[in-house]
Amino acid sequence: MRHILRKVRLGVLTGGGDCPGLNAVIRAIVRKGERVFGDEIIGFADAWDGLMERRTRPLTVETMRGTLPRGGTVLGTKRGSPFDSADGVERVRSTMSDLGIDGLIVIGGNGSLTVGDMLFREHGIPILGVPKTIDNDIEGTDLTFGFNTAVQIATDAIDRLHTTAESHDRVMVVEVMGRHSGWIATHAGVAGGAAVVLIPERPFDINEVCERLVRRHSRGRFASIVVVAEGAIPVDGSLTVADQSHDDYGHVRLGGIGSIVAAEIGMRTGFETRPVLLGHVQRGGTPTAFDRFLSTRFGVAAVDAAHEQQWGSMVALRNNDIVTVPLNLAAGKTRTVDLDLFTNVAEIFFA
Ligand code: F6P
Repeated sequence: MRHILRKVRLGVLTGGGDCPGLNAVIRAIVRKGERVFGDEIIGFADAWDGLMERRTRPLTVETMRGTLPRGGTVLGTKRGSPFDSADGVERVRSTMSDLGIDGLIVIGGNGSLTVGDMLFREHGIPILGVPKTIDNDIEGTDLTFGFNTAVQIATDAIDRLHTTAESHDRVMVVEVMGRHSGWIATHAGVAGGAAVVLIPERPFDINEVCERLVRRHSRGRFASIVVVAEGAIPVDGSLTVADQSHDDYGHVRLGGIGSIVAAEIGMRTGFETRPVLLGHVQRGGTPTAFDRFLSTRFGVAAVDAAHEQQWGSMVALRNNDIVTVPLNLAAGKTRTVDLDLFTNVAEIFFA
């Protein structure tokens, strides 16, 4: 492993959807870089756009004061990539060389890490990844920061829904985030004592869901919580889901399966049923202590990796250790819920 002994100039950007703990990562990068190595850290505003347009933000120990508990990102974030425009990669390259940047730390989810990997492998741009997403669906790391906070928010919401559901003998259908994976749904569902959890990894049969609720209610329970990941899909022919719209980046706009499932449960079982869409509440606000600590470890490790010139890597949590793994382990992949765990642990507690 080659060590850079001199101080370096590092660029940092936050890409994709925001996530609790982003500021804690940036703060840790700045603290370790500036105080330990004498590095200069340059932030780019609004993800790849700021890098291509040379919109920078000074990142120092002073400017990062007070940001540890703050949600969101001081740098701003956006979807999109340099590959969306013909000269995007050249603009990234020229910004980096004109500003004398030795390497770029990309704090991002699947999309940003895939872009980072392509810039590194196909264009030789020195990049390090830090895995971010509340969805916890990045390959190569046991956990992403932001997930713990989202699970806590969803669990708190479920706890609250229990008492109102019990007061009215209702079924509450809670839709949580999780586009391609049901990590939040599984963890919050188990932690919150849900009767049914529906995840993208296992297409659901609405008849079966209703049968389970009817069985549960026949045993003298008149209130139930159903947790649905936003990306949950019905098995063919079980339920019709209307065509969904797309955002400017071609992603399907999710948020709606919970209402559909609630309406079907109400109609088929006769139980009074209400949908609850948690949406972006799960991404906002202060990170949990767990996420602040994980983010801090990731930020510190990213600076060490930069000084070791481990370009093309991503910092990761493996068996409670922080390690680096090749970025292409994460690029273009989705880490889905372990179905053995879902069947053998989570489902034991469902209706
Ligand atoms: O990837 C994180 C995530 O929060 C997903 O769970 C969700 O589907 C998506 O972002 C929502 O994106 P947007 O903020 O663009 O609506």
